Amino acid sequence: MIRIGVLASGTGTNLQAIIDACARGDIPGRVVVVVSNNPKAKALERARRAGIPAVAMHHRAFPDRDTFDGKLAEILHSYEVDLVCLAGFMRILGPWFINQFAGRIMNIHPALLPSFGGLGMYGDRVHKAVLDSGVKFSGCTIHFANEAPDGGPIILQAIVPVRDDDTVETLASRIAQEEHRLYPEAVRLFAEGRLHVVGRRVHIAEAREPMSIVE
Ligand code: GRF
Repeated sequence: MIRIGVLASGTGTNLQAIIDACARGDIPGRVVVVVSNNPKAKALERARRAGIPAVAMHHRAFPDRDTFDGKLAEILHSYEVDLVCLAGFMRILGPWFINQFAGRIMNIHPALLPSFGGLGMYGDRVHKAVLDSGVKFSGCTIHFANEAPDGGPIILQAIVPVRDDDTVETLASRIAQEEHRLYPEAVRLFAEGRLHVVGRRVHIAEAREPMSIVE
């Protein structure tokens, strides 16, 4: 059973999908702490409702990014997390933090990376850029986090068609449905030890057959 720490700044629907997948037994693990830089984040309420420790740490209460990152890492270490899931976390984490949890931080992005990602590409801005560009497909990406925003090795992607009458809202909501399926799936693969990073690529090992007993 892996111990998962989730960082979220907003509504926390992806957090909820991970909590629910753990509760169903789909993920061999459990969420042991949720941290938000936004004390009003609905994600914190969701955590409390599920009986999970919820920590609010407003970034403005810290003199600089390094001090914020240091406190965040201290909290996650104190809960002995094996995996850190960024689920709509609106702070950029510095290289020191990334290094603390090297290969153990996942992020979700609401488009098909490496397109429509990077600094300043978050929330509705992503969907607006997708619609403005005229691409016929968007989707979502789960990737390992590295020092470049939205830049780490890609674990899973799901494709969502862009419809002629799509607005930012309709596209975002169709993509959100895929996110809620895909993030728990990526966490499950990690928890099963099936993700292997080879350069830029993430290889996914086949599931092992359950052992059969031969009489
Ligand atoms: C998601 O669209 C995710 O792709 C992006 O932030 C959003 C978070 O939504 N990184 P929620 O807080 O999980 O509802």
